[in-house]
Amino acid sequence: MLYYLGGASFGLLGAGVCGIFAWNIDSRRRHTPEDGFHEVVLNRIPEPNSSPVSMISEGQYVVRAHIVRNTSGLLALDGRCTVLSAPAFLKWQRDHFTCPACGSQFSLDGSWVAGRAPRDMDRYALEVETPNGLLRTSAAGEPVPIDDATAVYLDEWTLIRGRQRQ
Ligand code: FES
Repeated sequence: MLYYLGGASFGLLGAGVCGIFAWNIDSRRRHTPEDGFHEVVLNRIPEPNSSPVSMISEGQYVVRAHIVRNTSGLLALDGRCTVLSAPAFLKWQRDHFTCPACGSQFSLDGSWVAGRAPRDMDRYALEVETPNGLLRTSAAGEPVPIDDATAVYLDEWTLIRGRQRQ
């Protein structure tokens, strides 16, 4: 599900194609590091299904993320392994993420593949500015489209937990 935020006076559009919603929220949202938003530089965003790009940025906290793009849109995966005791920074190795400490593995979209990690990789919400308003990652953390993006920001205050392993 996608969320459109902003646009000067959007009302609730309801569930249209792809379940798109628009909320009546002030479009003059501040996207600054002081407000917890980290810019994802547009020309550094990878091509769909190609290797992710690592991002380290300092706002209220230091964010270490992997920016991943697939045919549905963009994800900002938290760079930390989901084994809580000593989260190491996951490394991309050819076709999967690997934890250098425990060897847990995750696929390009952050899904658990192997190892003792208890859940998929966590992900940060993204906000995408477009000429039609502001798109935001859904609560489920699905990829957010960036086809007509004019700017993309990672929201360090919204970390969506990965799905528990079955
Ligand atoms: S990070 Fe500590 S086990 Fe993977």
